[in-house]
Order: sequence, then C-alpha cells, then structure tokens
Amino acid sequence: MCGIVGYVGKQDAIPLLIDGLKRLEYRGYDSAGVAVLDSAGLSLRKAVGRLSALEDILHLTPLGGRPGIGHTRWATHGPPTEANAHPHTDDSGRLAVVHNGIIENYKELREELEKKGHRFSSQTDTEVIPHLIAQELKDGAPDTLTALRNALSRARGAYAVGVLSADEPNTVFAARHGSPLIVGIGSGEYYIASDVPAILSRIREVIYLNDGEIAALRTDGVNVYTLAGQRVQPEIHAVTLQAEAAERAGFETYMLKEIHEQPRVLRNLIEKHSDLSDEFELSANYFRKLNRIMIVACGTAYHAGMYGRLLLEHFTGLAVETDLASEFRYRDPKIDPGTLLIPVSQSGETADTLAGIRMARNWGCKVLSICNVPGSSVVRESDAVLFTEAGPEIGVASTKAYTAQQMAFALLALHIARARGTLNESEIAQCLTDLRKVPDAIHLVISRKETIRAIAGKHHDGPSSLYLGRKFNYPTALEGALKNKEISYQHAEGYAAGEMKHGPIALINEYLPVVCICTQTRDEVYDKMISNMKEVEARHGRIIAVATEGDTLVKEIAGDIIYVPAIRDEFSPIVNVVALQLLAYYAAQARGTDIDKPRNLAKSVTVE
Ligand code: G6P
Repeated sequence: MCGIVGYVGKQDAIPLLIDGLKRLEYRGYDSAGVAVLDSAGLSLRKAVGRLSALEDILHLTPLGGRPGIGHTRWATHGPPTEANAHPHTDDSGRLAVVHNGIIENYKELREELEKKGHRFSSQTDTEVIPHLIAQELKDGAPDTLTALRNALSRARGAYAVGVLSADEPNTVFAARHGSPLIVGIGSGEYYIASDVPAILSRIREVIYLNDGEIAALRTDGVNVYTLAGQRVQPEIHAVTLQAEAAERAGFETYMLKEIHEQPRVLRNLIEKHSDLSDEFELSANYFRKLNRIMIVACGTAYHAGMYGRLLLEHFTGLAVETDLASEFRYRDPKIDPGTLLIPVSQSGETADTLAGIRMARNWGCKVLSICNVPGSSVVRESDAVLFTEAGPEIGVASTKAYTAQQMAFALLALHIARARGTLNESEIAQCLTDLRKVPDAIHLVISRKETIRAIAGKHHDGPSSLYLGRKFNYPTALEGALKNKEISYQHAEGYAAGEMKHGPIALINEYLPVVCICTQTRDEVYDKMISNMKEVEARHGRIIAVATEGDTLVKEIAGDIIYVPAIRDEFSPIVNVVALQLLAYYAAQARGTDIDKPRNLAKSVTVE
C-alpha cells in the first residue's frame, strides 16, 4: 500500500525514481509524485491518477536534480487529489516527505502544530511529519536527522518514510516502523524502496531496515540509527534475485506471465523440499507433541490457508483451524503454547496477518510462516519459515504465489504426517509421486488457454456469477470467484456446493454462469457435485464445469467444460485453480479492465 522510492548518487534522480515507481505501482496507483533537490532548492511534481499522468506532467514541465524521493499512493486519508498526493512539505517548502502507513495520532499532532502556526494543505495524516520535523528544528534540533528522530518518536501507528531536505544536500533519510522499507546499495549510489524488485537491476546488496530504525543515505555511504540515536551495524545481504524476474518477459501482462510461471515455480518447490527432512526449523519432536494448528491469512492467502487446513486435517489428524487475520485479531481464541500458528502471506507485510503473529507469540505459540518475500516482516517475526520461492509477484491478483502456498501446505502436511506417523513411508512416497505430477498438469491446463478464452468470451457480460466446489475444492471455488471479481469486476460468489440450496439457488436462471469444480474421482464428493450440477441444470443455469479429462457424465450436464488432467483428489485444487485464473483473466480482458492494476486494490495491504 503506497510505494516509496528514493535515490542518492551522481545521476539525475527523476528517471530512476520513475522507473522505481513503475515497478511499485502495484502498491497503489491513485496519484503519484516526486521531489528532487535542484538549483531552486526543493522542487516537486505531483499528479492524480496513474504514474503516466505524472510522466505527462514531467514531460510538460521537466524536472532534474538529485537526490530525490518518489511515491505512488493508495489513498487512506483524503481522496486522490493533487493536494493529497505525496511528497508533502512543511511551510518553508524545504522539507519533503513520502510515507506509507498510517499516523494514527495525526489529528492531535495537527491541532498542536496548527496552534503553533503551521499551515496544512492536505487532508492526509502524512503531512504532520514534515511539519513536525520543521517544528523540531525550530525548537533547537541541531540537524535534520535529530529532528526526524524526535518527530517520529511522537508518531503513533505505522510508517515507512523517505525525507528530503534542502538543507542536507546529497542526503535522503529513511525510517520504518511497521511498513516495509529497504535500503539498496548500488555502485556509488544508494536507494530506498518499498521492496527489492523496484530497484533490482540497480543494486547489488540490500539492508532490510528493522522497525524503529532510521537510515541516512549519503553519496559516501549509509548510516543506520535507532530512534534513540544509537548507531547500529546493519546486516547487508547480497541480492540473489535475477533482474529478469521482475520483468514482463514479452507477456502482455504480469498476471499472464505469472500464470505461466507456475509449473516451474512448483517444480522447484517440490524438488527443494521433497526429502521432507527437518528443514522447517521445528523438530520432529515438536510436531509430535503439537496439539493444534491455527492458520491466519488474508485474501487469496486465506484461501490457501483453507486448503491447508483440509490437507493438514486429512494427513496429520491434527485439529486445524483457519481464520481471516482481520477477524482472528479481534477474537478470543482458545490458543495455548501447544498451538502452532501458520501465517500465510505473499508479501509478508499484511498488517492484519502481522497482528495475528504478534498475538500468538504473546500466548507462547511457535510461528511457522508460509511466505514469499525474504526479509519481510512476517519472515522476521516467525520462528520458522517455509518460503514459497515464487519470485516477485507483480500482478495485483495473486496467482503463482497462491499455487506455491498450496504446494507449501502439501509438503508441510506430508512432513508433519511423517513426524507424527500418520502416514507410512510408502504412502508418503506415493503422495510425493502424485505431487510431482502437478506442474505438468498445470502446464497442460495453460496450453488450453484458447478454449478457456472462448468460454470466458461467452459468459463475461452478465452482472454476476457463482462458483461451486466441495471439500478440497471448496477453497478453489472461493479463489476462482475472488480472481473473477478482482480483475473483471463481475460480481462473483464462491460457495460450498452443498450450501447452494440454502440461498444462492434463488439466483439461478438462464443468465447466471455457474462455475462447478467437479474433478473428484475417488470419493463421495463427486456424486454430490453431480447432484448439485443437476440442480443448477434444472433451473437453466449456465454451467461451466472444470472436470477430469474423459469425464463424459459431467459433459452431459455442463454447457461448457474445461478439462484438466487426472490428479489425486487431495492435490487437484492446485491444478483446478489455474483453469479459474485463466477464466477470470480472459473475462477481464474481454471486459477491458486494467488486469495488472485493478481499480481500488493494492497488492500489499499494510494498513488494517
Ligand atoms: C491483498 C492482495 C491479495 C492478497 C492479500 C493478502 O488483498 O490484493 O492478492 O491475497 O492482500 O496479501 P499477502 O501479501 O498477505 O498474501
């Protein structure tokens, strides 16, 4: 939510800031702005709307200078207007601030500052920061760094900030508390950014700032301090990601590229973990003694968590619960140190998921996270991490991160099942053999994208659609519906097929597309799904079925059918969801939406 970038070095900052912001636009895109130091002191440009609007303005009224900071906004306080766009300045116009997060006590700070004569020009919470820094300087702070430290000590809430001062040439200040911010080290130049991929091609090393740390980036190096002013020796990590990982590689969108990456991502993940050795940093003995698992997540990751629950219950016999992190944090769950908390998060920065981790730690639980981003807050606050290793996911609607989360749960469930003895070695070996078939099966589904595109073309124009699934594929129905509404804006509802007759059946008529996931072959759920489809058929609903290759029974009932290869029931959701990702994708394409940056959404939700 909101993207920040900053540059200190010998080059003109503007093109570098714009390039970084382009890669951060997935974090928010309702306005954007940049500030640089130039011969006039501090100069800014801002624009409402996508980054391209800012580029147009820079074209008409060019700006050059260094160092610089930039921002792309996802509005929280105040609508997307030019006045509310970042960077924000103090009255003198000599200080500029970009911010990601929320300053919760901004009202009282603003009132206090207004009484002291500060004039505010936006409705944002952010604007208190430059005014606070200016006030600290007026009150005798010897330099900007001290003034920033003092100012931030008064702010409550979450922030990642970048600060530029006309009185501190060649310097960018950065600070974080609860919102992500990294410092990138290039050759003779330094960057700040909300994530590594934004500046990947320009840096060789990275510092993941910790909460409560402030960095001063100067042309001759980076110094890191605590809020109290103590110097800290930051850990410097080599950047291992390849720059191409964050490019579109010839695909029309990042989302389509990421859909195509799934077979490779999953193959690598299986190979990395298939010996199921004790690599999750928690001992077999710990898993044996465990009495309960609590999974918390948001959005797509929550659906992966629902699937994870089904697998863990099925293979390990443990009591498992999944909850939305935003609900979990306000419940009084009966959790004790015998419970393992599994947060699931692509970004590793989702505010509610982080809150869940902190609660569980207070109760003495161990935390094993499933996460995609090294160095993220979720990773740093967990006892153990199972990385999904999907690489940067830039399309706002999650695809490869989701199937990697599902795969991570499958591997984890087998690992725990072995530790607890709920599956024997030959059962585990069979499961692994079956899991290894998943990437090729996904590849085959992707190769049928033209069939899926044609089906989407027939059904995208209605106001609504229904997605039905059962057991392992109930979460698939929810995720398929979520994908559709996120990117095509067609209202879509995922439902447990057995619940259909308790409500949604009233919606069914000849106009309603009903996507039915009916790939189970070995258990009772298949027959039940067929009955549910019959109920839809009897009411003239338009059935789009996802079915196993060669299934002629489903073909008789469904108007349209997407065949997927036969896969063991437990793992079929990892394949089936890819058909639904593509269905949503082509519906969105037919409806002409901005697929990588759907309206109102942001990829990393760092506010409650
Ligand atoms: C946002 C994104 C979703 C994502 C959810 C949770 O809503 O648009 O794609 O599933 O946040 O994010 P996380 O990074 O924790 O997986």
